[in-house]
Amino acid sequence: MGLWEADDIRDETLEVGEGSADDAFTTADSAQSRRAMQLELTEDDIGLDRSLRPRTLDDYIGQSRVKENLSVLIQAARMHREGFDHLLLSGPPGLGKTTLATVVANELGVSIKSTSGPAIERAGDLAAILTNLEAGSVLFIDEIHRLNRQIEEVLYPAMEDFVLDIVIGKGPAAQTLRLDVPHFTLIGATTRTGLLTGPLRDRFGIAFRLDYYTDSELADIVVRSAYILDVEIDAAGAHEIARRSRGTPRLANRLLKRVRDYSTVRATGRIDAGIAADALAFFEVDELGLDSIDNRILRLLVETFSGRPVGLNTLADALGEEPETLEDVYEPYLLQQGLLMRTPKGRVATERAYQHVGVPFDLFST
Ligand code: ADE
Repeated sequence: MGLWEADDIRDETLEVGEGSADDAFTTADSAQSRRAMQLELTEDDIGLDRSLRPRTLDDYIGQSRVKENLSVLIQAARMHREGFDHLLLSGPPGLGKTTLATVVANELGVSIKSTSGPAIERAGDLAAILTNLEAGSVLFIDEIHRLNRQIEEVLYPAMEDFVLDIVIGKGPAAQTLRLDVPHFTLIGATTRTGLLTGPLRDRFGIAFRLDYYTDSELADIVVRSAYILDVEIDAAGAHEIARRSRGTPRLANRLLKRVRDYSTVRATGRIDAGIAADALAFFEVDELGLDSIDNRILRLLVETFSGRPVGLNTLADALGEEPETLEDVYEPYLLQQGLLMRTPKGRVATERAYQHVGVPFDLFST
């Protein structure tokens, strides 16, 4: 049984603790630093993310289909005393891929080693990681789509047969040496499965896509996190934060902390709907949970480009962001909310986007 059952916690008001003074912000913060405070990972947030992460499937809120599947597969692996199949998790950033990998390792009762695609620079790095794994353990590779191709080739025989083929020497005298590696489970995470090469994708026995969380799931997460942080929050306050968290637990937890900070300085430290709404307006998180960058994207499409389709690179240039960041971080939620469309000719704002930025739709559309 999990500590938190969804229905238990929805209407609960939890006991208060005081926010620490060094968490408070000054009122003179510029819009820029307010945004940074809201979205960027500070040391504090990294620690916060870790402390709020669920450790078991029962504690993990949302993604019910994925959870149910995993629960059966984990039980089966335990009963068969078999290793767990390699698992691929995909979905937009902040939805809990890393958390889920940790939960799986924990439920299997094995250790986990974490790295990321860009961090593995040479085949030798991967060989060192693989040979040092504990038997049965989980190797988590975040952003696995960014693994370089030569390194991917080293991974294939390791995933399939738990061997490494090491080439010694160069030219005609080169020899291949086969080395056993401990049996392990690879958990790969990617923002987009489409970016994985076919051969790599095919070597995962299980693949799940994480979806955006519902407002009520996020409200449950906010209440759980508030409890851990010792912050008093009522159901309406949790819902207000949830509804503006872009379907993303990482953002919900970060906004919870910012709202807590705001309430500590400007109010009583408690969070209700009014305080949450005031704090989120202060941090420029709007009614749909869009921040200033999201709104700039919509304004660029509607106003600067006058509603014409805009290519990804042009839009990214105008925004001052990398095309990959635009595509992986900002666009998925705008697409999901029906604010932006990807058409063969380029990105286009929808009627809802025009409404959101307050420009009549038929002004530009023909
Ligand atoms: N914290 C972050 N993500 C969570 C989740 N899915 N369930 C519970 N707590 C969380």
